Amino acid sequence: MLNFNIHVPTRIRFGRGKIADLGEEILNYGDKVLLVYGGGSIKRSGLYDQVLQIFQDNGIDHVELSGVQPNPKISSVRQGAALCKEHDVQLVLAVGGGSTIDCAKIIAAGARYDGDAWDFFTCKARISDALPVGTVLTLAATGSEMNPNAVINNDDTEQKLGTGSPLLYPRFSILDPEYSFTVSPEQTAAGTVDIMSHIFEQYFSPTPGTLVQNRLAEAMLKTCIHYGPIALAQPDNYEARANLMWTSSLALNGILGAGKRTDWATHDIEHEISALYDVTHGLGLAILIPYWMHYVLDEQTAPRLAEYARNVWEIDESEDIAAARAGIRKTAEFFKSMNLAGSLSEIGVEAERLAEMAEKATSQGPLGAFRKLEYQDVLNILQAAYDGNIFDALKNA
Ligand code: NZQ
Ligand code: ZN
Repeated sequence: MLNFNIHVPTRIRFGRGKIADLGEEILNYGDKVLLVYGGGSIKRSGLYDQVLQIFQDNGIDHVELSGVQPNPKISSVRQGAALCKEHDVQLVLAVGGGSTIDCAKIIAAGARYDGDAWDFFTCKARISDALPVGTVLTLAATGSEMNPNAVINNDDTEQKLGTGSPLLYPRFSILDPEYSFTVSPEQTAAGTVDIMSHIFEQYFSPTPGTLVQNRLAEAMLKTCIHYGPIALAQPDNYEARANLMWTSSLALNGILGAGKRTDWATHDIEHEISALYDVTHGLGLAILIPYWMHYVLDEQTAPRLAEYARNVWEIDESEDIAAARAGIRKTAEFFKSMNLAGSLSEIGVEAERLAEMAEKATSQGPLGAFRKLEYQDVLNILQAAYDGNIFDALKNA
């Protein structure tokens, strides 16, 4: 295990009715809030009215930024930062999923910066100050509610880039699983895969001696595999939504990756897809993951992939390569069982843009740590994911 520091300062208020704590949390930072939300799901669910009532009951003044889109745009960030400056906002409150939360984080940094917030993504500026951020989570997926990262799209440059700073940790996050009862089947499935992908990116690591992180990771994967289908079949199953929501936070709050080198190649590749096509992040991941696993499988990586297959999928096979293949098949079958597409061609990605995506993904150097991926490797994975023949590939291997 490698040395590490970890400090997660986000106060979590988890469970039914925890919205009642919102007023008290906000007033720790001030009484002037920018309320950030998406395309209207919080209005349909009644959460918006609840939040406004809490503002009123606690003497909290607010301005709003609505319409934050999935794969949130830098243009929304710019609008939000301008509102903060104009109205002397003291806290940015995100009510929604990962896109809304990410947008709120960069608004908070942009509000305390004189230049353009896109500078944080191009390394032109570092985040050196930010307004406090609070969140009310409505979709279990990204872990943004308990981490210091944000990913933003720039349509002008066709880029989707991430940044992070300890200043961006939400000060508090209200996690009431009931708010995720209304999440659509597509987003429930995609969110479950996103959680699993965060676990994979940290589980598949070249660092030895991390038994505790690995066993925790396997427990979280099993939780997703157990509860994802239950949440799909029974959207208002509290136990399923609660387990998925808490797993989403735990999967990317730092505990799984502490003390190890982590991979993130699949995420880097997916971000190139959702930069160009506005694809749901978790859906892009669901298509890529089995192909990434299949591509990186070799004599060196087989023991770890076999360990995954045996411990998570209970594959009873003593030979590592065969066990690993069985685990990859199970993974692909699981994603298919949640009605997620199995190829890039199915979701409208164009074959002639694969090379461009591979080039952009590797423009800063090779991807990954579990196995390093150069341009040609990334292109091969994209091509295989475009064709979508994972079950044949596993049969013929
Ligand atoms: O916009 P509204 O109307 O709210 O609808 C949203 C949106 O259409 C809807 N939704 C959210 N909660 C709902 C709901 N619909 C009904 N009931 C509810 N309770 O779901 C749709 C998707 O929302 P979005 O916020 O985009 O989803 P998600 O949470 O999956 O966030 C994805 C974004 O986060 C980034 C992704 O790249 C993507 O841009 N990521 C952020 C990370 C981070 N900050 O650490 C890490 C991730 O790997 C990821 O890259
Ligand atoms: Zn993700």
